Amino acid sequence: MDSPPIDTLISAERIQARVRELGAQINRDYAGQSIVLVPVLKGSFVFAADLARAIEVPCAIDFFGCRSYEGTESTGVVQTTLDLSKPVEGKHVIIVEDIVDTGLTMKYMLENFETRRPASLKLCSLLHKAARTKVPIDIDYLGFEIDDVFVIGYGLDHDELYRNLPYLGVIRG
Ligand code: IMP
Repeated sequence: MDSPPIDTLISAERIQARVRELGAQINRDYAGQSIVLVPVLKGSFVFAADLARAIEVPCAIDFFGCRSYEGTESTGVVQTTLDLSKPVEGKHVIIVEDIVDTGLTMKYMLENFETRRPASLKLCSLLHKAARTKVPIDIDYLGFEIDDVFVIGYGLDHDELYRNLPYLGVIRG
């Protein structure tokens, strides 16, 4: 199968520099505390792996899976595909997301996590598409604001492909 041409939106170097900045900000904000990072599968697995290695405060990692997309379209229905392995009651939780697009997934997740009574709950998202907002979401740690384009790479997929690209790109055409 031939791969279509892909235009680079954000290079691997820019991503790595920004991830280091986000890690430094988290280290300052949580100095003297420990945290639980909750990467949202599947899209944030690459970002979370890099972010975790930029974090120096004691840090547990537990995964949460949900999906709302088929191909390039949100189905509007959010499904949990994997739950946490341990309760997070009394813990400082940071949800790690790849992209906040309409905001529907994060609204669902934040409401779900509030019921688990964490000591604090924050959101770190690599990307945000403001033009697509249906539900406004406060992002505590944001990598990049992007235009209304469908992005792939660095964990993000198109029909499950391209997650392994080290940069963020857009399929041409
Ligand atoms: P939301 O519920 O519309 O905010 O969508 C959030 C989820 O949709 C993200 O976690 C991604 O998995 C997926 N998504 C949204 N936009 C893109 C994109 O441009 N590329 C790949 N996945 C996307």
